[in-house]
Amino acid sequence: MSDQSETLSNLLHEERRFPPPADLAADANVTEEAYARASADRLAFWEQAAERLDWGQRWDQVLDWSNPPFAKWFTGATINASVNCVDRHVAAGRGDKVAFHWVGEPEGDTRDLTYADLQAEVCKATNALIELGVQKGDRVAIYMPMIPETAIAMLACARLGAPHTVVFGGFSADALASRVEDCDAKVVITSDGGYRRGAPSALKPAVDEACEKTGDLVRNVLVVRRTGQDVAWDDSRDVWWHELVDRQSPEHEAELHDSEHPLYVMYTSGTTGKPKGILHTTGGYLVGTSFTHWEVFDLKPETDVYWCTADVGWVTGHSYMVYGPLANGATQVMYEGTPDSPHKGRWWEIIQQYGVTIFYTAPTAIRTFMKWGDDIPAQFDLSSIRLLGSVGESINPEAYVWYRQHIGADQAPIVDTWWQTETGQIMISPLPGVTHGKPGSAMTPLPGIAAEVVDDNAQPVPNGSGGYLVLKEPWPAMLRTLWGDDQRFKDTYWSRWEGLYFAGDGAKKDEDGDIWLLGRVDDVMNVSGHRLSTTEIESALVSHPKVAEAAVVGAADEMTGQAVCAFVILREAAGDGGDDIVQELRNHVAHEIGPIAKPRQVMVVPELPKTRSGKIMRRLLKDIAEHREVGDVTTLADSTVMDLIKSKEGGSSSDE
Ligand code: PRX
Repeated sequence: MSDQSETLSNLLHEERRFPPPADLAADANVTEEAYARASADRLAFWEQAAERLDWGQRWDQVLDWSNPPFAKWFTGATINASVNCVDRHVAAGRGDKVAFHWVGEPEGDTRDLTYADLQAEVCKATNALIELGVQKGDRVAIYMPMIPETAIAMLACARLGAPHTVVFGGFSADALASRVEDCDAKVVITSDGGYRRGAPSALKPAVDEACEKTGDLVRNVLVVRRTGQDVAWDDSRDVWWHELVDRQSPEHEAELHDSEHPLYVMYTSGTTGKPKGILHTTGGYLVGTSFTHWEVFDLKPETDVYWCTADVGWVTGHSYMVYGPLANGATQVMYEGTPDSPHKGRWWEIIQQYGVTIFYTAPTAIRTFMKWGDDIPAQFDLSSIRLLGSVGESINPEAYVWYRQHIGADQAPIVDTWWQTETGQIMISPLPGVTHGKPGSAMTPLPGIAAEVVDDNAQPVPNGSGGYLVLKEPWPAMLRTLWGDDQRFKDTYWSRWEGLYFAGDGAKKDEDGDIWLLGRVDDVMNVSGHRLSTTEIESALVSHPKVAEAAVVGAADEMTGQAVCAFVILREAAGDGGDDIVQELRNHVAHEIGPIAKPRQVMVVPELPKTRSGKIMRRLLKDIAEHREVGDVTTLADSTVMDLIKSKEGGSSSDE
């Protein structure tokens, strides 16, 4: 973490502070008193947050922590997530309120869905799943573009109590197959394709390939027609959404599920090659996401138009596009495509068109816009914006200030939200009506959240020092386990220190005690706010017939935060691998995992630096990837290796 500490000491010279605008502070959903109230009685605080939802049976206990680390929240209570996100708003007379302003990538291709529309569509989709034989407890995989049917499918699964697993549409057939297999999904919901960068991009072929790989596992594939492109069709398995769903009844009486009934499984990269199936359950998750969405974004459902740009295939899309905002009755924008299609001002044009007031995106996107130029957002009326959010990685002060100035008219507070797939809900963030924001810091744990920065002995570090970020007390939307692997759940998160959840991030407390995130301390990379495991990419490389061994590191990258850099040793039989070896390996990784995992750089090397016990010293490879003087090599089994690697530098690498 030495280079990170250097960055940090620069950051700590940051003197700028941005107090909340007076009108926002005066009318904020959550004020300063919440911190004291939550610390006086944390469970009473969450119990009060739970009152914002509609329950069937009330709970016996707010939290059952008698068998740590397996938490149960709102035990004995019953609830239906879909009813809370949809039906209750219609029942309260808000059926005509827009739930989604959906914007397709092709210009003019838009669709508004009110809460009443959403209710009808969700009920029809639920009835369709029932017709396909899906029962409570069955798993359903969803592999979709950003279209309303994706949220509808998720809510239909939730309604039925069939846990969904949404697989990001940019992942490969292999990644989809391994997830379908791990959670034993009987049905896959997909579409022929979606629009990206001005052209239809196919999804169904990857589903076909995944079905082939998983044998007879998948019984049905439900296919939304989005682009109209040609698709291969298996009559015994494939069903068109418009043929099955459209003819169903728009009514469905929802069953109430136990508060701890599984809601979804979301796969994320860990330190080994096998992705982890993060399990979220119903009651606590809905309390945690809906409350924090209302709290951190200061949502006023009657007047705000909220837009979270995350893909629904990631946890941000689950917590802060589907479950949190819909439970709060928000009006949202959902956009299908890329920010530069058909022009680089597309996002700002959408904000202007719909009067977006709250905007939530990732630092990597902000840096891209900075590069494209201030003049682009300046062409649009962004005066509706009153609050900005950031997620996925630390937002560097330059990007923070640019975001505030050029998108937020130097007025809108920025909430830098730290959380994880595992935490389900935002954990560390400014409160927009309370906090005096510092560019680059996620500030303090939210009320009701017990986060700390500790040293190797689990002792809190003093202000001004760095250590590991841990969570000391359970929180409502926390993961309950890893799907089918309780032991890995314990080992991964709870084994380092007794009773503490280890998030895997390094952090530092500044002189005021505010928290600065320093990135992962394990073998996990963060590329454009997405988590990738070094081991997973190494396995993909080694699966190529020409590769004998591979080591992958995340190197600092101006645009994407970190970038994937691979070092490979070829098999002898492969000779020098041929002229196109670098491109071939990059494409191979994209095919095995997905385009986001494609290495920025591949270096073919004769050796890898290893310790005497055979552990690859990634730190040294990182020095090379980041063009630094190579550090201490004394623990290497063969100290000449680094010279060999350095002599190859530039030879076979490829930067795009
Ligand atoms: O390293 C932290 C980083 O992203 C990781 C979680 O990744 P994922 O589960 O994919 O979820 C991303 C969206 C919630 C964290 O362990 N991270 C996320 N938000 C921030 C962050 N790092 C610094 N600042 C943030 N605001």
